[in-house]
Amino acid sequence: MALKRTMLLLLLTLQWTLRQVKGQDSQVTCPFRAECILPCSFPPSIEEIIHWHFGLNTDQTVHTYYHKKDQFKFQIPRYSGRTSLFSSQIPRGNASLLLRNVTWEDQGRYQCYISTKQASQESFVVLTVKDEIPRVNISVKDHELMCSSTQTDPNPQLSWTTDPPSDMNAKTVISPESSGLFSVKSTLDFNKKQDTIYTCTIRSEGLEIRATLKQTVKSLQQDLILTCTDKEVINSSLTWTFNDDIILTYDNRTSHQKVSDQWRDHFSKRSLHNLNRTGTYVCSRQTSVHRMDYVLFRVEEPLTESPSEVHSGVKWSILAVLIILIIIIIIIISITVLVRRLKKSKAQDNRATRTSNNGTNLEMSPLHREPEKTLS
Ligand SMILES: *[C@@H]1O[C@H](CO)[C@@H](O)[C@H](O)[C@H]1NC(C)=O
Ligand SMILES: *[C@@H]1O[C@H](CO)[C@@H](O)[C@H](O)[C@H]1NC(C)=O
Ligand SMILES: *[C@@H]1O[C@H](CO)[C@@H](O)[C@H](O)[C@H]1NC(C)=O
Ligand SMILES: *[C@@H]1O[C@H](CO)[C@@H](O)[C@H](O)[C@H]1NC(C)=O
Ligand SMILES: *[C@@H]1O[C@H](CO)[C@@H](O)[C@H](O)[C@H]1NC(C)=O
Ligand SMILES: *[C@@H]1O[C@H](CO)[C@@H](O)[C@H](O)[C@H]1NC(C)=O
Repeated sequence: MALKRTMLLLLLTLQWTLRQVKGQDSQVTCPFRAECILPCSFPPSIEEIIHWHFGLNTDQTVHTYYHKKDQFKFQIPRYSGRTSLFSSQIPRGNASLLLRNVTWEDQGRYQCYISTKQASQESFVVLTVKDEIPRVNISVKDHELMCSSTQTDPNPQLSWTTDPPSDMNAKTVISPESSGLFSVKSTLDFNKKQDTIYTCTIRSEGLEIRATLKQTVKSLQQDLILTCTDKEVINSSLTWTFNDDIILTYDNRTSHQKVSDQWRDHFSKRSLHNLNRTGTYVCSRQTSVHRMDYVLFRVEEPLTESPSEVHSGVKWSILAVLIILIIIIIIIISITVLVRRLKKSKAQDNRATRTSNNGTNLEMSPLHREPEKTLS
């Protein structure tokens, strides 16, 4: 009985001294493989003991600090080399934990337990690791095609291909970004060849992300319809832009669709109709986690003949008419000449027969008389 009572008293005093930090658990979301700060603060005091624990029963030691030192012997191997405190901040009551290269297993509830000469306290942080899709972006500017992405891999492999194949001279730069990420940018001279498909492929940590760009030139006409997808793809999202202004966003997962008021009349069934403005229309589509398609439509004024072309056109038609006229005249002249000749020769023939019958034409007689002679 006495033992039970002392136990209860001990428990009560423990609860008394253990200050629960008021409020809910802090929520932290970090990109996969990035650096992450788990916040924890306490009233500054001396003889700080800091324990970061993880797990349902807070039984896994993530980081320990006392005697003004990190104590790595308690740390479970999974966190080895990935944790640190901001030691200069500890005297100021900051026991935030820096966790590097976060993975899916790191998701969950962390306990920050602090004990100082004054008091002790615990607080909780819930870490969520975001499936940060390494965003890949293709864009065209000033005859330059750019593919860019933010990566967790310091050495991503970026390559370009075209269909049909062509020679390319790409410049690729990798530079560190904030929070341990790396940006990769690659530029390419962009000739305005239409209907060439450009593909930018980035490989990093066994992941392959890909963006394709296709350019098509269309002329503005009444029945012009721009469509970038013939079928709906599960989990895909779609964005239409006009000269960088968003016309529409659509997400298959949520069925959420948002069309800008200005474009409402021009939009149906994920296609654009009745367009009346020239410019660049882009349909960008995320078809799966690692695939991105950009379809770029350059809509131009319908081709009208420029004045010089009209001029030369007129010249050519006049020339053609003249040539035809000349041919017709030549034909007519030839026909008349032929007809005349025929008439003439017929008349001569008639005359010749007539004179031979009369026997008065002496000039013709030898020719015509000879057979008579032989006959008689
Ligand atoms: C603790 O220190 C880190 C690193 O300087 C800082 O990012 C964080 O905001 C600090 N937290 C508080 C509560 O001051
Ligand atoms: C992150 O962890 C993975 C797997 O443990 C490792 O392959 C990778 O090199 C680490 N990245 C960094 C930047 O430390
Ligand atoms: C893609 O890159 C272009 C040019 O750098 C930029 O203007 C545009 O905002 C980017 N788009 C996205 C979705 O990041
Ligand atoms: C779509 O997303 C859901 C939830 O994220 C996932 O379970 C499913 O496998 C995905 N389907 C496809 C076809 O990618
Ligand atoms: C997403 O696309 C699939 C495949 O076409 C379709 O069956 C499904 O209804 C779409 N989901 C929503 C929410 O529209
Ligand atoms: C294009 O159409 C929209 C709406 O249909 C209209 O408000 C706008 O004035 C038109 N623009 C031109 C240049 O015709």
